[in-house]
Amino acid sequence: MTGTNERDCLCFYVNGKRVTENNADPETMLLSYLRERLRLTGTKYGCGGGGCGACTVMVSRYQPSTKTILHYSANACLLPVCQLQGAAVTTVEGIGNAKTRVHPVQERIAKAHGSQCGFCTPGMVMSMYTLLRNKPQPTMEDITEALGGNLCRCTGYRPIIDGFKTFCQESNCCQANGNGAAGCCLNGESCPEKADKEPPPQLFDKGDLLPLDPTQELIFPPELILMAESEPQVSQVFRGDRMVWLSPVSLEELIQLKTSHPKAPLVMGNTTIGPDIKFKGALHPIIISPTRVQELFEVTKTTQGVSIGAGCSVTVVKALLQGLVQELPEEKTEIYRALLHQLGNLAGQQIRNVASIGGNIVSAYPNSDLNPVFAAGNCSLTVVSKGGKEEVPLNKNFFLGFGKTSLKPDEIVLSVFIPMSRKWEIMRAFRQAPRKENALATVNSGMRVMFTEGSSLVKELSIYYGGVGPCTVSATRTCAAVIGRPWNEHTLGEAYTKLLDEIHLDPSHPGGKVEFRRSLTLSFLFKFNLEVLHKLWELNVMKEDLSEEVRSGIRPLPKQLQPSTQDFQAVVEGQNFEDPVGRPVMHRSAISQATGEAVYCDDIPKMDGELHLVLITSTRPHAKILAIDVTEALQVPGVVDVITSKDIPGKKFRTFTGIDEELLAENEVSCVGQLVGAVIANSRRQAKAGASVVKISYEDLPEPVFTVQKAIEKKSFFLPQRMIERGNVTKAFDTVDQVYEGEIRLGGQEHFYMETQSMVVVPSGEDRELNVYLSCQHPTYAQESIAETLGIPSNRVYCHVKRVGGAFGGKVTKTSIIACITSLAAWKTGRAVRCVLERGEDMLITGARHPVLGRYKVGFMNDGKIMAADLDYYANAGNTADESVLVIEKILLHLDNAYNVPNLRGQSVACKTNLPSNTAFRGFGVPQSMMVTENMINDVAMKLGRNAEEIREINMYKEVSLTHYKFEFDPKNLLRCWDECKVKSDYENRRKAVVQFNQQNRWRKRGMAIIPIKYGIAFSEGFLNQAASLVHIYKDGSVLVSHGGTEMGQGIHTKMQQVASRELHVPPSFIHITETNTSAVPNTCPSAASFGTDANGMAVKDACEKLYKRLEPVMKQNPTGTWQSWVKSAFFQKISLSSTGFYRGHDLYMDWEKQEGQPYAYYTFGACCSEVELDCLTGNYRTVRTDIVMDIGRSINPSVDIGQIEGAFLQGLGLYTMEELQFSPSGVLLTRGPSQYKIPAICDTPLKFNVYLLAGSDNPHAIYSSKGIGEPVLFLGSSVFFAIKDAVLAARVENGMVGPFTLDSPATPEKTCLACNTIFTQKIPASTPGTLKPWALNIP
Ligand SMILES: Cc1cc2nc3c(=O)[nH]c(=O)nc-3n(C[C@H](O)[C@H](O)[C@H](O)COP(=O)(O)OP(=O)(O)OC[C@H]3O[C@@H](n4cnc5c(N)ncnc54)[C@H](O)[C@@H]3O)c2cc1C
Ligand code: FES
Ligand code: FES
Repeated sequence: MTGTNERDCLCFYVNGKRVTENNADPETMLLSYLRERLRLTGTKYGCGGGGCGACTVMVSRYQPSTKTILHYSANACLLPVCQLQGAAVTTVEGIGNAKTRVHPVQERIAKAHGSQCGFCTPGMVMSMYTLLRNKPQPTMEDITEALGGNLCRCTGYRPIIDGFKTFCQESNCCQANGNGAAGCCLNGESCPEKADKEPPPQLFDKGDLLPLDPTQELIFPPELILMAESEPQVSQVFRGDRMVWLSPVSLEELIQLKTSHPKAPLVMGNTTIGPDIKFKGALHPIIISPTRVQELFEVTKTTQGVSIGAGCSVTVVKALLQGLVQELPEEKTEIYRALLHQLGNLAGQQIRNVASIGGNIVSAYPNSDLNPVFAAGNCSLTVVSKGGKEEVPLNKNFFLGFGKTSLKPDEIVLSVFIPMSRKWEIMRAFRQAPRKENALATVNSGMRVMFTEGSSLVKELSIYYGGVGPCTVSATRTCAAVIGRPWNEHTLGEAYTKLLDEIHLDPSHPGGKVEFRRSLTLSFLFKFNLEVLHKLWELNVMKEDLSEEVRSGIRPLPKQLQPSTQDFQAVVEGQNFEDPVGRPVMHRSAISQATGEAVYCDDIPKMDGELHLVLITSTRPHAKILAIDVTEALQVPGVVDVITSKDIPGKKFRTFTGIDEELLAENEVSCVGQLVGAVIANSRRQAKAGASVVKISYEDLPEPVFTVQKAIEKKSFFLPQRMIERGNVTKAFDTVDQVYEGEIRLGGQEHFYMETQSMVVVPSGEDRELNVYLSCQHPTYAQESIAETLGIPSNRVYCHVKRVGGAFGGKVTKTSIIACITSLAAWKTGRAVRCVLERGEDMLITGARHPVLGRYKVGFMNDGKIMAADLDYYANAGNTADESVLVIEKILLHLDNAYNVPNLRGQSVACKTNLPSNTAFRGFGVPQSMMVTENMINDVAMKLGRNAEEIREINMYKEVSLTHYKFEFDPKNLLRCWDECKVKSDYENRRKAVVQFNQQNRWRKRGMAIIPIKYGIAFSEGFLNQAASLVHIYKDGSVLVSHGGTEMGQGIHTKMQQVASRELHVPPSFIHITETNTSAVPNTCPSAASFGTDANGMAVKDACEKLYKRLEPVMKQNPTGTWQSWVKSAFFQKISLSSTGFYRGHDLYMDWEKQEGQPYAYYTFGACCSEVELDCLTGNYRTVRTDIVMDIGRSINPSVDIGQIEGAFLQGLGLYTMEELQFSPSGVLLTRGPSQYKIPAICDTPLKFNVYLLAGSDNPHAIYSSKGIGEPVLFLGSSVFFAIKDAVLAARVENGMVGPFTLDSPATPEKTCLACNTIFTQKIPASTPGTLKPWALNIP
């Protein structure tokens, strides 16, 4: 293969259009090609590593051998453009658009309210679209499988599923009894649920949907078929700056290339190599891409087994094995079924579609799901090289270490041989991962046993594990101890001991979780034992089968999604049908979000002369900066400048709560990830290259502080500390029956907005004006900060926020800091500068929710009444104050939650540590505060041996009361929510069923919890309770509304449109909401505190009322006129058709000296009941049902509000049960992307997820009697935590342990499994704290 020539022109199609590329760059992935080269910005960047699905596209290829077209979804971020020869790519823009025709998939996700911020929506659409291209009438299982690789941080997934479910045949069913079950309309029977009932209002009309018409789809380009059929395949070479891409077409050529370039990797799916290049900085000067070498895709079936080409994707292998399992007798498919178990759980669909099995084997990940099964299943490889073909057994000798195998550098895996199983052979596979789907396993295993015919005598035994060493490991000695012996309790008992001895893990093992991993090795063997015993019974070797109770150890967790209820009140009878208030109006941008037309910050076209900015961050937790040497960086081609603190012409600090915070560190750094400077270059790649060679010399300062314990020891705090007390706590402790002291540690939470921090700053070129386009929650704050940094007045800085792809509190202060730096760059260079953080940078730099250590002492009576509680909160604030003091204040204001504790004391403090500075996050400390309180109540219940719900009920506010800050309120609706939640969830009966379930299942436990919430709405800093708006009516009657709120997916613009529509008496279609712009509406407050609609709604209402009043005389003059005619005559009568609106909100305050105040306008109330099923052997769990009852007054838009409720709940579920930020012992954030940090995916949504809006609730304190809802429900995710804790309690009781126990948050499978204290976890010797350096710090 020689240099570039004509044949090295890359040819593929995108959305039906031919693309030819003469200079294809091997380093360019399809995502950036689409976005930057083709300007198709519908496909989004969320992580760049295959972990989020935001970049999903459909790839179609013609297969000449079968004359069929293969469609599959793929992650554009990992798909090298050079691999696209002959492919047809379809992006979200290619299937429909708002101008001509919206595709049914786009329409249904939009109409079902499945798009909030919309950043994940194009990816969701493309996953679903691809599924429908392959299967126009999918099952629910198909849908959840197809969407398993797509993350959404806003919706809670339920509406997405509901929208897409309309494509299933069964969705026409009432689903009252499960699809097609007895009593179901699918069987022609009448629906009991439907009979004689007025149908409840629905969130969307299923009858009003475009039909799916496969004939309307883009056809596969005939030219590509012709090319594949007639033109000979030729090898190709593509040369980039740093990489050469070689694409052979024959095996012979491939062998030759590999012989000449033994170090060059073979790139198939690019799912190992791609992330290695992106995240680990691996550089491969030559890449060989053999995706067109047919021999690597051949499948040969023999009587012994099946030989599968190493290039086959996981999806292809899965389909093939499924076919074999159908065809062959069961006894021959043990190995195939074990593999299928792993294949179904490996990554998400997009990765499975491209990841090759050869790549998986050779990558030799320590936790490869396939290798332990291949190895235990006696599989082998056919390997080719110049020296010829060779059979290589896939056994322990093959795996040599992390990413290392016994293959020689020039060897190529041609195929994998998977044998059929024999009679008397049993094989199973196991895996446990941090998330049920789309997560690399913590530990996995393949186990195979062969018995001497007709007996339980073990002839062969093979056990392999992943995740317990640097590579796949064999438990050889354990197997040897069992071989030749009968399979019975005694033999297995010895096997556990041997195994424990054999699989040893260092306490600092990468990934940590050492005790858990070790216990899983035992649990898996135990599960295998159960499987084998059952099978031996089936084979008539064992006389008795396992009891149902014991079989619970191997029963799969429930998985089937159930129909859910979303219950809300219809609008009052007689409401004008054109008045949209109170109706489930679709998010006003949902369609454009679903078609990819919605413009996010990074979708703004490139400006002339635009530069890119990459931040330089500290690599030390605490050090003096001795020097910053930028010489080498300035030499990097394309680098234009490097900026540091010295370049700031104005204020170098931001000041929050009175404490200064440097924008760019000048003399000292105080955390890893702190901003030190920035490199500006012509391209992002060049800026990144520049940033990597900036040399900073440090002198480490002693003893960085990472944990709150250390901070307490060193008294490292941001002041002031806060304290509040009512009654006399100390005295009350003397009068109670019992006193108990406990604590709970709460981890932080990454915002994980799908759109990372993004901005473009454009100097206008005159008068020192800057236009700043950014994704943020508080444009005014950004404006002020930029002006102060540059030393110019605010009237020269114009901040524009069109929409935000998720924020959750993380785009207030941190965005402003980055905006200051980007503006500085634009200022200095006089050119437009774009800064879009990569996911890893974003996670490293921008901080998270505050981790908290909560300690409490509680005094209570034997009847359950809590008389006194003393709670201390230590929040890990990180290295700067940010909003931490406000957070710890809010913690104290909410520590009572729903409970009237007569003697109550709380103290809170923000600990200054050397971790990245934490910031606001949905709930602003409340989720941490209430969690400590609820845990305390749970402990009281455990001390008294009663259900926690009883103790909650006993202590709840019952009548008009004063809170601990002397604020009077009526808890009536709190109690109504609680009672209704109990009824709707059928709590009493299900509680009994849970008890019964737990008696009948040894290894499986169910748990339930109901949690109430009382959440204060509005800002306790009274001045923030204001808003303004600007409304114009144009002469054609169209209306333009600007207001101070930012649209982040919470639907504020939709609600404002509804408000304006009602007030002006015109249909919503007349009203357009423009971007949030500091020039249109100045001095805005942040869109936060669940107060955006309350404040801006009133401001919009005010402006519209003024305008309507002006128009009234005109209307009177011509009562039969139209809106347009009135507007026109108003213009001719010189009546102003433009008005500002203003809302002067509640004068709230909190006096910390007096410990009293009116910090909230009102409370939003709610209650939530969740039930989980827990596998005690692995800590894996499933939320089987959740019922939420919320009092949100009169909802302005029930679909938007229910969306907020479900989304916040799932985010809370993530906080309390899954999401774990891990820091190395030197304070480096280890979890910097979706591969390491798991947010809830579709598999985490409760199987039955009911939401009820409390009827008959009014709220005189907010617009149209509505209530704020953005934040409160997040805390209700803790119901899942407490349900898990309830299940763990049942397991512990069975294991002979009673009384309170510690379960810290998040209750991950690791913590949960260890807390169950099974016979297997008990066998693991606990490592002595402080004796060894663990992999990660124990934060808070
Ligand atoms: C988001 C994500 C989630 C994942 N989740 C899981 C999971 O849950 N479980 C799991 O097991 N894995 C998981 N993986 C890993 C994934 O399965 C592997 O990366 C994949 O199988 C590798 O195949 P590939 O074709 O993409 O390899 P590539 O990246 O193309 O190549 C990988 C390596 O294999 C070598 N290679 C490839 N083919 C051959 C061959 N025929 N002969 C010799 N060498 C060859 C290459 O030289 C290269 O060194 C995940 C990966 C990602 C990105
Ligand atoms: S951006 Fe491609 S998967 Fe996240
Ligand atoms: S709508 Fe899914 S991430 Fe926002």
